[in-house]
Amino acid sequence: MQVGLGFMGSKALLSAVELDLFTVLAAHPLTAAQIGDRLALHPRGLYDFLDVLLSMKLLERQGDGHQALYQNTPETAAFLDKNSPAYVGGFLEMAGSRLYPFWANLSQGLRTGEPQNEIKHQAGLFEVLYSDEPRLEQFLRAMQGFQMGNFLMLAEKINFTGHRTFCDVGGANGTLASVIARRHPHLSCISFDLPIVAPVARRHIEAMGADARVVVQEGDFFKDPLPEADVVTMGNILHDWDEDQKQVLIRKAYQAVPPGGMFIAIENVIDDARRSNTVGLLVSLNMLIETRGGFDYTGAQFAGWCQAAGFQKIEFIPLTGATSAAIAYK
Ligand SMILES: C[S@@+](CC[C@H](N)C(=O)[O-])C[C@H]1O[C@@H](n2cnc3c(N)ncnc32)[C@H](O)[C@@H]1O
Repeated sequence: MQVGLGFMGSKALLSAVELDLFTVLAAHPLTAAQIGDRLALHPRGLYDFLDVLLSMKLLERQGDGHQALYQNTPETAAFLDKNSPAYVGGFLEMAGSRLYPFWANLSQGLRTGEPQNEIKHQAGLFEVLYSDEPRLEQFLRAMQGFQMGNFLMLAEKINFTGHRTFCDVGGANGTLASVIARRHPHLSCISFDLPIVAPVARRHIEAMGADARVVVQEGDFFKDPLPEADVVTMGNILHDWDEDQKQVLIRKAYQAVPPGGMFIAIENVIDDARRSNTVGLLVSLNMLIETRGGFDYTGAQFAGWCQAAGFQKIEFIPLTGATSAAIAYK
């Protein structure tokens, strides 16, 4: 029952993020009535909504009854207050507005093999997502929220000694290139993505204080060669595409790095037996909803594609949650 009704708890959290509950509570604890006033909520569902979140350990409460004060947990204060530098709610905002309604049609996706999002009757995911500026910005924020912890960990765990240049392919708003440039000042960094993303990336890289050493390069990774660099990364890129397209991108990464260079995919890597990485498998199913051919893959699949492209050695470093750095050395 807990799994079957899991969507209810999930939607309670997604609504809390959408309504800015955790941001409003960041300043100081509030009673339910004060929260209701601040968020313009009807009193009828208010106590159940707050106490559901409390029971899921997403809020704390001092006292009981009408005078009780609700406050953030240490985790919601760090990760779900919009003004926190560690905010990861961008992905949950997108999950609430897009993925939640699209997943209602999962059965139809399973029957037809067709995406169930905006591209159901139209072109490709990025053309459609990016045709609307607020949606483009929301998508880029969502990606940042999903990956920030992984990027910070990657910057610590990879030995960049001996490398001089770094390129993040499909770099979105430039977060990874900025994190790497700030942590490893000897590297010159490129964030490569479609032209429409470039202005958002330039603004964001400047805001992260990394504009002196991160260049935004515009291009299409299927039509143009990738920029040459000692280290090429792709964060959640390969899983957007079908197997042939994945192999094209891996071969292009092989061409872009010199001997001794590295290609790193920062993605869910599903366990080889496909038995235990539930989040990885769910994200792969989300690619059915979101794309025409995308899927997440096992470590053995990644190793096979990279070896076929010519890479010598493959290694996996766990990052946060279900995500790993899958590294191929040339
Ligand atoms: C799922 S997002 C991943 C963003 C980021 N790397 C991360 O790890 O969060 C995919 C990215 O690929 C970019 N992209 C899609 N098609 C592309 C293409 N043909 N050429 C270059 N970038 C592309 C998108 O603009 C988007 O930023």
